[in-house]
Amino acid sequence: MPSTMLTVVYLVAGVLFIMSLGGLAHQETARKGNVYGMLGMFLAVVATALDERIALSPALLGGLAAGGVIGGIMASRVVMTAMPQMVALLHSFVGLAAVLVGISTHLHSTVAFPEGSHVVHALEIWAAVGIGAVTFTGSVVAWAKLDGRLSGRPLLLPGRHPLNAGAVAFVLLLALPYASASHAGGGTWLLLVMALVCGLLGWHLVMAIGGADMPVVVSLLNSYSGWTAAAAGFMLANDALIVTGALVGSSGAILSYIMCRAMNRSIWNVVFAGFGTADAGPAPVGEKVDLSRLVTRTTAVDLAADLADAQSVVIVPGYGMAVARAQHTVEELTRLLRSRGVTVRYAIHPVAGRLPGHMNVLLAEAGVPYDIVMEMDEINDDLPDTDIVLVVGANDIVNPSAQTDAHSPIYGMPVLEAWKAGQVVVFKRGLGTGYAGVENPLFFENNTTMLFGDAADSVRQLVAALG
Ligand code: TAP
Repeated sequence: MPSTMLTVVYLVAGVLFIMSLGGLAHQETARKGNVYGMLGMFLAVVATALDERIALSPALLGGLAAGGVIGGIMASRVVMTAMPQMVALLHSFVGLAAVLVGISTHLHSTVAFPEGSHVVHALEIWAAVGIGAVTFTGSVVAWAKLDGRLSGRPLLLPGRHPLNAGAVAFVLLLALPYASASHAGGGTWLLLVMALVCGLLGWHLVMAIGGADMPVVVSLLNSYSGWTAAAAGFMLANDALIVTGALVGSSGAILSYIMCRAMNRSIWNVVFAGFGTADAGPAPVGEKVDLSRLVTRTTAVDLAADLADAQSVVIVPGYGMAVARAQHTVEELTRLLRSRGVTVRYAIHPVAGRLPGHMNVLLAEAGVPYDIVMEMDEINDDLPDTDIVLVVGANDIVNPSAQTDAHSPIYGMPVLEAWKAGQVVVFKRGLGTGYAGVENPLFFENNTTMLFGDAADSVRQLVAALG
């Protein structure tokens, strides 16, 4: 494909990516947004493969086919609760690809650059390899933490800030010496050592982040992977990579900002403070405690009677709803209550579940109408006037100690003020803590009752009792 044609196809792909981001911003248009994104990526990949500067070798076609098949199998097998790990793993591939392509470009530069621009090209290689290495190791650590293979506890090395600053200074100060060495055909060792230093920096940055801050880290690494792709785009003089990378990088940065605001944290605090988890780290779920003395229990039959008298109900879904795959029975409950004239709405916390938009995706999948799904800021003020709040598998996002206990790791995080409602019913299996590993005083409030058991089973029993 001639280069003018390639530019046109890349332009179309870029427009499709922008339309995709626009679509993904709203639940109603998210599916369409996904289709635009897939179409854009398909065009970009096919056009790149047909670029006249690229030889369509069997190795290239085999790599495309193998990658496509492995990606398809991974995506079809992944369960919703394991999506954050998968996203982190995919970010690590972007980083690794940039490192490998960067080193390969350094070793056999095939792109023709105008006379005198070798310094710029060398700096592009330096940036792509450096950002790629940080993204690669940082994402591998994020994957291991999210997958429970590494503790969520932050690793706080003595002198960690000077160590990070030293690594950044090393990368910045040696950029120009590398550029002049590479012009003379050298610089390979410098590039490899820099990749190693950046790899250690990425590992260290994410190791120092506590469990409760992982939502921000996932979106931050998303942003890094975008900037990695953009840097690789400059290195390879590929417009599609530059545009796509910039879109992913900036949207990831905006998402990180939104997540930080949702948790009432500054981005610098998350990245450098090494804060955000209880000493115990994420606690095992389903912990055994003597429940009878501490909390008030309810049954599906009693709750059905309470709901028969209620005018307004708010459902707060959390990670436990995803684990129990209870979204369909919760939707059935919603339909039943609404058919009886009860006003039912959902309250969505920005970090509910384990990935941005987790609850929205589950509820959309179950067919819950979008207009009754409210963001935290939209619904918090209505909770004091709500008859019953049903907390389905949520914990940290309804924890009052975020407002009352200055020593709590989640202190300052905005939460859904469920305790202000007339009655609160919590659906969970036991008194296990949530992701942040902290106790939740909500369970012991006078207006709270606990409906113990798997959330899907409990809601099913409730629907049966109501029907
Ligand atoms: P969590 O605080 O993690 O609490 C989930 C609760 O669900 C657990 O306490 C567990 O209690 C219960 N549960 C588990 N399986 C269940 C089942 N089958 N049936 C009923 N209940 C079940 O969830 P949340 O309130 O959604 O808060 C999210 C947390 O994850 C926040 O701390 C957030 O910072 C963190 N996080 C969020 C993200 C993003 S981007 N959303 C990413 C990483 C981390 P039992 O064991 O007692 O049943």
